[in-house]
Amino acid sequence: MFFYILLFLSISSLWWYWKTRDGGKVANLTGKYIFITGCDTGFGNMAAKTFDKKGFRVLASCLTETGAKELQAATSDQLQTVLLDVRDSNSIKKAAAWIKAEVQSEGLWGLVNNAGIMGPTAPTDWLDIEHFREPIEVNLIGLINVTINMLPLIKQAKGRIVNVSSIGGRLAFCGGGYCPSKFGVEGFNDSLRRDMKAFGVKVSCIQPGLFKTPLTDLDKILKEKEVIWNRLLPDTKKQYGEEYFQKGLPCVAKGSVATKVHHRSDYRDPIPAI
Ligand SMILES: NC(=O)c1ccc[n+]([C@@H]2O[C@H](COP(=O)([O-])OP(=O)(O)OC[C@H]3O[C@@H](n4cnc5c(N)ncnc54)[C@H](OP(=O)(O)O)[C@@H]3O)[C@@H](O)[C@H]2O)c1
Ligand SMILES: *[C@@H]1O[C@H](CO)[C@@H](O)[C@H](O)[C@H]1NC(C)=O
Ligand SMILES: *[C@@H]1O[C@H](CO)[C@@H](O)[C@H](O)[C@H]1NC(C)=O
Ligand SMILES: *[C@@H]1O[C@H](CO)[C@@H](O)[C@H](O)[C@H]1NC(C)=O
Ligand SMILES: *[C@@H]1O[C@H](CO)[C@@H](O)[C@H](O)[C@H]1NC(C)=O
Repeated sequence: MFFYILLFLSISSLWWYWKTRDGGKVANLTGKYIFITGCDTGFGNMAAKTFDKKGFRVLASCLTETGAKELQAATSDQLQTVLLDVRDSNSIKKAAAWIKAEVQSEGLWGLVNNAGIMGPTAPTDWLDIEHFREPIEVNLIGLINVTINMLPLIKQAKGRIVNVSSIGGRLAFCGGGYCPSKFGVEGFNDSLRRDMKAFGVKVSCIQPGLFKTPLTDLDKILKEKEVIWNRLLPDTKKQYGEEYFQKGLPCVAKGSVATKVHHRSDYRDPIPAI
């Protein structure tokens, strides 16, 4: 019995070694275009720089001109930037046409749907529908629209799509539109994967934990929460109490999972995950 287990383990390790012997490296980067959204800062910025260094043809979309200029200055001439606000239909249309002209017959080898915002986070009864709308429009509707617009080029290259979801797409750790938007991304992920399988397009979804980027800037999150608190009806304020507001961390009440996570010392610097 022991012998068979050992044999099985040896064969498995050999197979694993063979499969990963090139470190999963992609051979022949000629004509491999990757389009990434939200490259001004954070993960998108790092992914653009990382792929550029590896030799991919990176098409990086930024929300702001400053973001695009800074990224361009920090990368090779091969990397190209385009301005894209995923909420803006004209902007999507223009970016899609530009990408089509850039990639020509190669198609799009990769799409990284990264652009995202946190939006206001607070207990649900402190919020109104506009607080929810913002992150859902960027993180979910924007992501779906960018994807739809890029699909023909991705099918052409039998490419892959990476959707950046979040741990908040699995566990709704705070009130606000962020977690619903990321749960939506998870749903989109699965249907898209099935729909694209026949075309040889791979779809995956990543769920980062908590990383130090502008998105998770605690001061900003707390300031937004304060604005919301100050506008609450006196009755609601009384129900929660000043102490709750002062001590409660950005997401939820004391003792919840999120309070444990939201200590500065727990934040990790973003790592080139790809
Ligand atoms: N940091 C974390 O701990 C964490 C954890 C889980 C998941 N994530 C996810 O990772 C992704 C990247 O976040 P990040 O942490 O790297 O934050 P980030 O540094 O704020 O990056 C988000 C990027 O999206 C851009 N953006 C915002 N609204 C946009 C819009 N309407 N259209 C196009 N681009 C837009 C931002 O541009 P500006 O900088 O110009 O505003 C920024 O470049 C997000 O989807 C986020 O939900 C992050
Ligand atoms: C690399 O890919 C390009 C474009 O797909 C192709 O034209 C070229 O022949 C490939 N080179 C090698 C060495 O496979
Ligand atoms: C989605 O993108 C298309 C461009 O192809 C645009 O016409 C449409 O208005 C966009 N929809 C939304 C909700 O942004
Ligand atoms: C992931 O990307 C694919 C391809 O764009 C898309 O169809 C799918 O809906 C996305 N999934 C999520 C969860 O965003
Ligand atoms: C996203 O889709 C891929 C392909 O279906 C699947 O393997 C993965 O588990 C999905 N991710 C999530 C978080 O649902």
